[in-house]
Formats: sequence, C-alpha cells, structure tokens
Amino acid sequence: MTFSRLAFFLALTASLHAAEPVSFRREVAPVLHRRCGACHGEENAKGGYRLDTYERIWKTGDSGDAPLVAGKPGESQVHARLLEQDANDRMPQKADALPPREVALIERWIAEGAANDGGAPQRPLAELVRESLLLPAPEKYARPAPVTALAFSPDGTQLAVSGYYEIMLWDIDTGALVRRIGGLPQRITALAWHPQTRLLAVAGGSPAQWGGVFLIDPAADFRVRLLADLPDTALSVAFSPDGKLLAASGGDRAIRLFDTATGKQTRLLKQHSDSVQAVAFARDGLRLVSASRDRTARIFSLESGEATAIHDDHAAPVLAAAFLPNSKGALSVTRGQAVQQWDAENGKLSSEFTDAGRAVQVLLPTSRGLLTGSLDGLVRFIPYADRRTLMTWFGHRDCVESLAVAPGGQVFASGAHDGEVCVWNLACETWVRRFTTSP
Ligand code: HEC
Repeated sequence: MTFSRLAFFLALTASLHAAEPVSFRREVAPVLHRRCGACHGEENAKGGYRLDTYERIWKTGDSGDAPLVAGKPGESQVHARLLEQDANDRMPQKADALPPREVALIERWIAEGAANDGGAPQRPLAELVRESLLLPAPEKYARPAPVTALAFSPDGTQLAVSGYYEIMLWDIDTGALVRRIGGLPQRITALAWHPQTRLLAVAGGSPAQWGGVFLIDPAADFRVRLLADLPDTALSVAFSPDGKLLAASGGDRAIRLFDTATGKQTRLLKQHSDSVQAVAFARDGLRLVSASRDRTARIFSLESGEATAIHDDHAAPVLAAAFLPNSKGALSVTRGQAVQQWDAENGKLSSEFTDAGRAVQVLLPTSRGLLTGSLDGLVRFIPYADRRTLMTWFGHRDCVESLAVAPGGQVFASGAHDGEVCVWNLACETWVRRFTTSP
C-alpha cells in the first residue's frame, strides 16, 4: 500500500469509527459488569445502588444524585465517580481506576444519550457479556486446545474432552471423534459426569470477565443448560456421590451448590479470599474440600456451611485438593512443594508424597493409590500403602493438565497442554490409546 493510500485508508476507518455510536451491549456492559458488579449487584448493593441491568443503572442510590443524565456526562454520577480524585470516593472503590480508554468510552456513551442496544432493559448485564463471549467453535482448530478437562462417560466407552468453545466426545476404542457440543465458553476448566444419569457438568469462562456452570443432557439431544453466570471464570465442578448436588467453584472466590434435579442454586459459600481452583465431595456427601489461590485448602460442612478445618501449610496458591478414599484425610498441592496429606478433622499436616516430585499440577486419588500429573509431562501412580512410585508414564511431551479415571478404576486418561490425550492401563503399565484432540 502506498503512503497516500494508507493515509486515506486510515482516515476512512477513523471516520467510520467516529461515526459509530458506542454500543452499550458490546462495549459498556462488559466494563460495568467486570469492574462494578461485585459491589453493585443483587447480593451486594453498596450505597443502595445496583449496576446489574440497564434499567437499574438509572435508579438513584442512597445519595439521591442522578446516576445518569442522558447527554450530560458531567451531571452523571456514574461518570463523575470514575474521575473522582479522592480514592475513597472514586469508583471502583478499593481498586485501580478504570483506564482512560474505558472512562472515555463511558463518557461518550452518556454524551450520545446513554442508549440501550442490549434488548429488554431488565436483562442482566451478565447475560449481555455472556452473549458476546460465547462464540461458535472453530470448524478446524489452527492448533490443538490444551486438554484442561477430561471425564469418562459412566459406561467407560467415551471420553469428554475440553475444546475451544466446546466439549468433544471421543470414542476410547477407536480414538474417533464422536460428537462436538458447542455453545460453551472459550476455555473449559472442568468436566464431571453424573454418577448415575448421563448428565455432564461443565465449568468455564473468560478470566476476570465472566464464567458459567452448565449441565448437558445427552438424553435430550445434548441440550446445554446454563445453571449460573459468574462474574469471573468457573474453575471446577463436582457431583455429590448420590448425584443430588452439584458443587462449582470459581475465580469469584465462591463455592456454589446446585440442586441437580432443578438446576437451582441452593447455597453460596464465600469464605475464601481468592479464587477457588478446585472443589470435591467426601464419600459421605456431607463435606467438601476446596483449594484456593489464598494458599489454603478447607473442609466445609454442608450442614452448617462453615469451614470445619483449614489447612494452610502452603507457600503458594493451592492448585488442587481432594479427599482420600476413606475421607478421613485430604490431599492438596501447590507449585514447588510436595503433595501434602492432612487430617480432614483438624487440618493438620500428617505426611507428604515426596515421590511425586515438586511439579505436580493435578492429582486424582483412586481406590488404591494416588495418580499425579506434572509440569514435566510425567504421570505417576503412588500406592497409599508405601508411598513409593509404583509406575511412571513418560508418554507426554508437554505438561499434564488433567486426569480422569474410568469406572472400574483400571483405566485412566491424562490430558496435556499440547492437546494430546493418553489412555493408560494401570494393570499392564502402558498406554492403550493416544490421540490429539483437535478437530
Ligand atoms: C469494592 C466495592 C465497589 C466497587 C467495585 C464499586 N463500587 Fe460504587 N460504591 C461502593 C460503595 C461502598 C458505595 C457507597 C459509598 C459511596 O457512595 O462512596 C458506592 C457508591 C456508588 C455510587 C453512588 C450511589 C449512590 O447514589 O449513593 C455510584 C454511582 C457508584 N458507586 C458507581 C460505581 C461504578 C460505576 C463502579 C464501577 C466502575 C463501582 N461503583 C464499583 C463500592 C463499590
């Protein structure tokens, strides 16, 4: 392109850009949802003011000052509070100011009349943000998606694997792609199959923007049903042993419980002070174990909703946690430290799995021993009896990000960052299938 043509092109795109009004749905709602939602939503309306639907943004809070005056950013509290010099009064409170680009966007939106292009004014902003983030899955992948989540179907014949904006079902015998299920977040972080029915639970989202917890029903043509919008990505899902409850955790620091039959959220546990990376049920179904970036792993009683034990011997964010099969002990791991075993009653450290090394990313307690997957691509099996590595599998060339065990416990699968899945046989110490999960 010659210089004059380029200049013309730039001038043209600039003028086109300037002519286009700011979109509430695409540009303003994501900023308000991400930066204001935590303190001005249903669960928490600071200053008597909510910012979670277009309609509510207009409703005056405790101060009595108009939050928005169409065409007049200078008279609108929503704009004035972004520019406030006093850090105590500036919004978002107790956080960095919005970047100038976002302040300018909101200013221009108000100056242009603060119009709504997001449908009904009562629609939650979370819904508008979700719509803009749930895109169709690419037909062919430019490069394989990291295998961040894996789960065997209850009959053990298929493996559900995370993809981009989708879940894939792969046949284990043939290594063939059986089905793609779209309408899901770009990044899938966890998968769990219901212990009795064929329902599949999915967690995922976009960090610091939005997260979703979904249930997929294979009996209803793989219909995807959203259970909850989270203000940050969802990071884990787990069914209770009787299948009645689904637990989910996320970047919003919360653990949520859902009634599987109705899909309704029945409980919100907000005790961690940072994102909750993992959550798992005890075999009795009465307790949960959690792993958080706040460097603690906790046991929660489902009866009281309180943490009954806190394990905090971690020097870094906790990556994963799980109960031992007897549910008396729990395991947790952080980067740079050995897997720790602790007492689920009092949280006290009881021993370490030093054989697993200090680069464990994922852990999966099976009935006989612990399976671990590491940053160096190794998968290990360590029996509880002596804690000596019984088997090490060297199949992966990239870090292991997910593990799943098949019903029966003899076969398990590991997924790596490079998109490769290995299906291993514990009895014969070798892999039975290996494939790259890229359509
Ligand atoms: C960490 C919590 C927090 C966040 C995040 C937050 N606010 Fe607030 N906001 C408050 C509190 C507390 C008040 C009430 C005290 C006050 O008015 O300063 C308030 C009050 C307000 C009010 C005045 C309401 C009234 O009429 O009294 C407006 C307007 C407002 N916030 C806008 C925003 C906007 C816009 C954002 C996002 C850019 C935001 N807030 C993010 C905590 C927060």
